[in-house]
Amino acid sequence: MPKDFLTDIQTIRKRARKHMEKGPVTPGYRGQLDVILRLLNEALATEIVCVLRYKRHFYMASGIHAQSVAEEFLQHANEEQGHADQIAARIVQLGGQPNFSPKGLAERSHSEYVEGTDLIDMIQEDLVAERVAIDSYGEMIRFIGDTDPTTRRMLESILAMEEEHADDLRNLLETIGSGDGKKRR
Ligand SMILES: [Fe+2]
Ligand SMILES: [Fe+2]
Repeated sequence: MPKDFLTDIQTIRKRARKHMEKGPVTPGYRGQLDVILRLLNEALATEIVCVLRYKRHFYMASGIHAQSVAEEFLQHANEEQGHADQIAARIVQLGGQPNFSPKGLAERSHSEYVEGTDLIDMIQEDLVAERVAIDSYGEMIRFIGDTDPTTRRMLESILAMEEEHADDLRNLLETIGSGDGKKRR
């Protein structure tokens, strides 16, 4: 390994004293901060829209006595809320401002707010939204690459949960769609 592989410690110490108002964002930060903050705010909007859609589906499914499906919707709603909180906290760490404004929320979001006409339609719309989220998180992760490992790790953990959600929904569709409670092959 070459001797100058790492920046010499005197330089690191000296520049750590500059721009201290940036907190964790040091001169060594390699991410494209403006783009990353915009992407994180789009992801935040996506998560909020997902919370709203799952909440709507939870209450509607409860109304038609589909209790196990309703509970799945509620669990997903709570987990999407957790993602929104993680993302908002990271935006602030990076020196940005989380956009919680209802104005333009649906436009900032990658996934759509679809109310759904019946139980199967609701599950299908949720599955579509999860698949949109999976693809957009995948793109964000590839864009960030190794420029911001902490944001990347957060997004990777969120992506893993969206994949679980999509799998849950597919299983629900297979169970309910077959009409007899058995899985279709
Ligand atoms: Fe999520
Ligand atoms: Fe999800």
